[in-house]
Formats: sequence, structure tokens, C-alpha cells
Amino acid sequence: MLVVGSANVDLVVEAERRPAGGETVLGADTVVLPGGKGANTAVAAARLGADVALVGAVGDDGFGRLLLESLRASGTRTDHVRTVDRPTGVAYITVTPDGENSILVSPGANRALCPEAVTAALPGASVLVASLEVPVPTVEHALAAAEEAGVRTVLNLSPVAEIAERALNGLDVLLVNQHEAAWLLGAESVEATRLLELGPKAAVVTKGPSGAVVVTGAGSSEIPAPEVDAVDTTGAGDAFAGAFATALARGASIADAATSAVRVATMSVLRRGAQPSYPTAAELE
Ligand code: RIB
Ligand code: NA
Repeated sequence: MLVVGSANVDLVVEAERRPAGGETVLGADTVVLPGGKGANTAVAAARLGADVALVGAVGDDGFGRLLLESLRASGTRTDHVRTVDRPTGVAYITVTPDGENSILVSPGANRALCPEAVTAALPGASVLVASLEVPVPTVEHALAAAEEAGVRTVLNLSPVAEIAERALNGLDVLLVNQHEAAWLLGAESVEATRLLELGPKAAVVTKGPSGAVVVTGAGSSEIPAPEVDAVDTTGAGDAFAGAFATALARGASIADAATSAVRVATMSVLRRGAQPSYPTAAELE
């Protein structure tokens, strides 16, 4: 499996509430964690035993080295993670007592992820998963090149971004949360089945504590999530993407892949952080 996306260092601060404009709020000690939507997706898949490589970019600095080490420790292949002449991406994350997070990303090196990096990594891949926080033209190229090479494509349109119509056309699975789906449909209420009008063969809408909706040409189905007390939802969507692609690569149907992804994402919200909270295959049993 090939994951095309960002790698960031997450600087996480727990606070009673998030500061408003012009306000200063004191929070807890800073926790430094490996993150980034692409790296998180790859690590979630690797923990489940998938053969996964990240196509990404980091800076020639301490944060970059920290990310490379943590990727390798998870079993993610890093031969397509380039070291570039920009600072490693950093995400400034505030987590409030309800487990809700807000994230400010400074993409840095992620902005240097070029289409050629994907072309070089593509041979031999079975499934390609792309997310944003990296240049949109790189993602568009990745999806087109994968489709041409007969590699299955999953686009996690997070954070939401304008993407060429033809990138959605022919896509195997469009993966979005409710906000992203509403933005794509230009509507307040999400009619998941309408996502197929944008061109993908299937769509999965994640709904946080309410599970997910799967839409294919054959119809749609609801996948419920077990009820839990969330501690930290950071990176739950990335865990979903990694688990979903892992199941697809193993031959699962889209509905079965989404069912297993709901379980993995739900487990991830029970522990703090993104990557440190992702379950192993053994924990999932
Ligand atoms: O989805 C969670 C991720 O978003 C964090 O790890 C942070 O790095 C940002 O990319
Ligand atoms: Na978590």
C-alpha cells in the first residue's frame, strides 16, 4: 500500500478551552508526537500488519529525523520520504476536556512533495491512499497515475480542498467526514448517495461517534460505531483511512473494510494522541 500525504510533528497542548482572537489561555505541558494525516494513515495501516510505504517530505532537522524514526519503528517504509530544504511540517493542536481538537498546520516540507515522488513509488503498489496537506497537483497526479497503473485509489479529502473534477472521476473510493461531504455537495445536510454524482465508484462518509455510511452503485448502508467515551479524537479519521485501505488491500468488500475501519477509529479515540493511540492487529482481537 502506498500512502501519499503529510508528515508533521504534533505539538499538543491540553487546555480548558481554546483561545479566542486576542486572548491568552494557559494550558498543560506540551506533548511532542509524530503526526500528519499521511504519516498517521501509514502508521495505522502498519500497526495492523499492512505492507505500507509513505510518499512524503520532511525537513533536514530534528523534527524530520523524529518522524523518520517513528515511521520506521511502526514498520512503515520510508524510502520514498524525501528530505527537502524546508522546515518539517508542524501541527499546533489544542485538545479540550471534551476530547475535541483544533489544529493549525504549518505544512513546511509537505509543500515540497512533488508529483515525481509519487511516480517513483508507484510500481508494485496494490492500493494508493491520498490525503491533502500536500500540494493538490501532487494528489491529482497520484490518483491519475495510480488509475492508469491499475492501482486501486482511495482519496481522503482531508483537509477539504478544491480538487479537479477529473480526480474524483474514476476514483475507487472517496472518503470524507460529514463536513467535507457537505462542502463537496454544497449543501448543509449530507445526502451521501449524491457523492457518487461527483464521479467516484464508491463513497464512505465518516460520522464520528455515529459510525459511517457506505455508498456504492448497489446502494448504501449504515455502519454503527460502538458507544465510547472519547478522550482524544485527533487522527481518528486517519486511523479510519489506514484501516480501511488495509482491509481493501486484503480483498475485503468496501462495506467490510468500513466496518473494520470504524472499529479501529473508535479504539483510537480511547487513547491520547494520533499515532500512539492506533491499535495493533492483536489489540483489535
Ligand atoms: O488528522 C490529524 C493530523 O492532522 C495531526 O496529526 C496533525 O499533524 C494534522 O495533520
Ligand atoms: Na487518539
